[in-house]
Amino acid sequence: MEVVPLGSAREIAMAAADIIESVVRRKPAAVLGLATGSTPLPAYQELIRRHEAGTGPSYDGVTCFNLDEYVGLPPGHEQSYRATIARELTDGLGISPDRVNGPDPDLDGLQGAGERYEALIAAAGGVDVQFLGIGSDGHLAFNEPGSSLASRTRIKTLTEQTRKDNARFFGSPQEVPTHVLTQGLGTILEARHLLLIATGEGKAAAAAAAVEGPVSASCPASVLQLHPHVTVLLDPAGAARLD
Ligand code: F6R
Repeated sequence: MEVVPLGSAREIAMAAADIIESVVRRKPAAVLGLATGSTPLPAYQELIRRHEAGTGPSYDGVTCFNLDEYVGLPPGHEQSYRATIARELTDGLGISPDRVNGPDPDLDGLQGAGERYEALIAAAGGVDVQFLGIGSDGHLAFNEPGSSLASRTRIKTLTEQTRKDNARFFGSPQEVPTHVLTQGLGTILEARHLLLIATGEGKAAAAAAAVEGPVSASCPASVLQLHPHVTVLLDPAGAARLD
């Protein structure tokens, strides 16, 4: 695991954008794994800025897989992760919506949705580089504490803490869906390169537990210690609890 403390969220955005661009330059048909939430936004904005300035690689051949999706939102809801990823990143990079995949929470097809999503990822050849944020409780994607370290894509119930954390996107915790379809920890570990970003003091304890604590389902992000190629980018507040 490569742990990289940086001076600011801006430096993290540049470093993350450099990593993504180098993967896409090396492999124009790269498969990118995308996360939602606030953490990756500066990096996404930097990628779009470079793309618009004409200094980025072509994304024409790239395929994307989102980490997770809420269950129960009406199709096209602006807070769905499909809509969020399009708005925050892929539209800006000119990646066509049919190359951006997400877990499909269509209620009629919920059973088997996990297996179908895993099959799509496998058919694309697996994820080359996976963006990850971390929850204040150590969750990775929506694998909350207690999730099996070998878990696969499936439905999960959000904890009250995570619904509270995500209420800022909705208005109130009550409006945050109770369930999500999320890639499992075992699924995430199959990506070839994992890129975790942790910024802000609210992430300091979780980041320290993930990087330096025991590998345990009580901090799902600690599973990253089992992967051979992980880069962790931290700002000073996010790194504050590291030894
Ligand atoms: C989002 C996701 C979540 C977030 C985490 C941190 O797709 O999988 O694990 O990465 O909840 O969220 P932010 O970045 O908003 O603090």
